[in-house]
Amino acid sequence: MSTNQAPLFSATAIAKNFGGVQALRGVDFDVVSGEIHALLGQNGAGKSTLVKILNGVHPAGSYTGTIQLDGQPVSFASPADARSNGVGYVPQEIEVLEQLSVAENVFAGRTGLGDGVLVHQRKLEQRAAEIFADLGIDIDPRAYVASLPSAQRHLVMIARAIVMKPRVLMLDEPTASLSGTEVDALFAVLRRLKAQGVAMIYITHRLPEVLAICDRATVLRDGQVAVRIAREDFDAETFIFSMSGQRLQRLFPEHAAPVGTPTALEVRRLSVAGHGGAVHGARDINLSVAAGEIVGLAGLLGSGRSEILHGIYGRVLSEGEIHVGGKEVSIKSPADARAAGIALLTEDRKRDGLLFNLPVGANITIGNLAPLSRRGVVRGGLERNAIVAAMRALNVKASSPRASV
Ligand SMILES: Nc1ncnc2c1ncn2[C@@H]1O[C@H](COP(=O)(O)OP(=O)(O)OP(=O)(O)O)[C@@H](O)[C@H]1O
Ligand SMILES: [Mg+2]
Repeated sequence: MSTNQAPLFSATAIAKNFGGVQALRGVDFDVVSGEIHALLGQNGAGKSTLVKILNGVHPAGSYTGTIQLDGQPVSFASPADARSNGVGYVPQEIEVLEQLSVAENVFAGRTGLGDGVLVHQRKLEQRAAEIFADLGIDIDPRAYVASLPSAQRHLVMIARAIVMKPRVLMLDEPTASLSGTEVDALFAVLRRLKAQGVAMIYITHRLPEVLAICDRATVLRDGQVAVRIAREDFDAETFIFSMSGQRLQRLFPEHAAPVGTPTALEVRRLSVAGHGGAVHGARDINLSVAAGEIVGLAGLLGSGRSEILHGIYGRVLSEGEIHVGGKEVSIKSPADARAAGIALLTEDRKRDGLLFNLPVGANITIGNLAPLSRRGVVRGGLERNAIVAAMRALNVKASSPRASV
């Protein structure tokens, strides 16, 4: 890649407003052939909005600014339109067709392997198996996607974008639910695409990934380009300062493991069934967490990390003991877990985390209305205060708590 190469794909003066929230305010961005261009920024900076515009999810007419492919102006009416122009996209949120097989999902929207309208099931399965072997992953192409956990659904989406042989590939946090081995396999594939001249836009919150595979980085802050950085100048401190406007030390204050504090949560010989029948679950887990302590739970894809949390939270049946604050509790449902003072932030916010028919405010309070109620009735004033405080603390950007989530 040379920096004076003409961009393959570029965006100029892109602005986008969502009912009062200005998500993008005049962004210029481009990517050249054979380049992996990192798109960075804090939550809500506008990264996903930009790639959705570049991919037709937000169609021409819903934003201002221009897009060029190979020096020619283009305007995409839909993701299918972008795809037929060689622009591929792996969305941040999982979008799969639950009722179809893995192979059918990988080739969804394409008839290239069928003879006429007849799709050759076996051919699809063979091709999908080859792609998964390439990605170094073990997924049965005949399995139904409904039975797969989040990480594997994500891999199916990645495979779907790669089989179309895109000239431009946009990946929106593709590794968020993957572990080291899958990330390595994905990177090997991206490096090969790079050698073939594919232009890639890579969104991530993981700076080591940027250092590992990206050639250039653009940092968005509050809907604008904060800085563009060439690979020679990559540096974690610079990234973090341009994303947040704060120095590293202030963002990650030293956190010493607490000494002598009481055990808040203790799990003894916990066993959890695999979810969807596709994974093995977890067996005989012993774990304790002191008050004020943060415990990391690491492991390969399918090793049972999520299942352990789901077991503790009562989302799946578990055996063994759970002690909270020194007392054994019986947790058979998420309601039991909440009553014991346990909260779970889910892996897949679209499927498990948010209620899309409720506004922002109700999504914040719905899991825990008791402290906001008197004699079983939610008090509007208390609820409003809690919502405003939470939105402020977490810097939630919305035109109002009543905005659609
Ligand atoms: N469909 C939508 N309707 C209303 N507001 C939206 C919509 N999509 C995004 N926004 C808002 O636009 C802003 C930018 O959001 P965007 O999803 O692009 O951020 P992001 O950089 O991808 O963040 P994250 O790291 O959390 O994925 C945010 O304020 C968000 O609330
Ligand atoms: Mg995003």
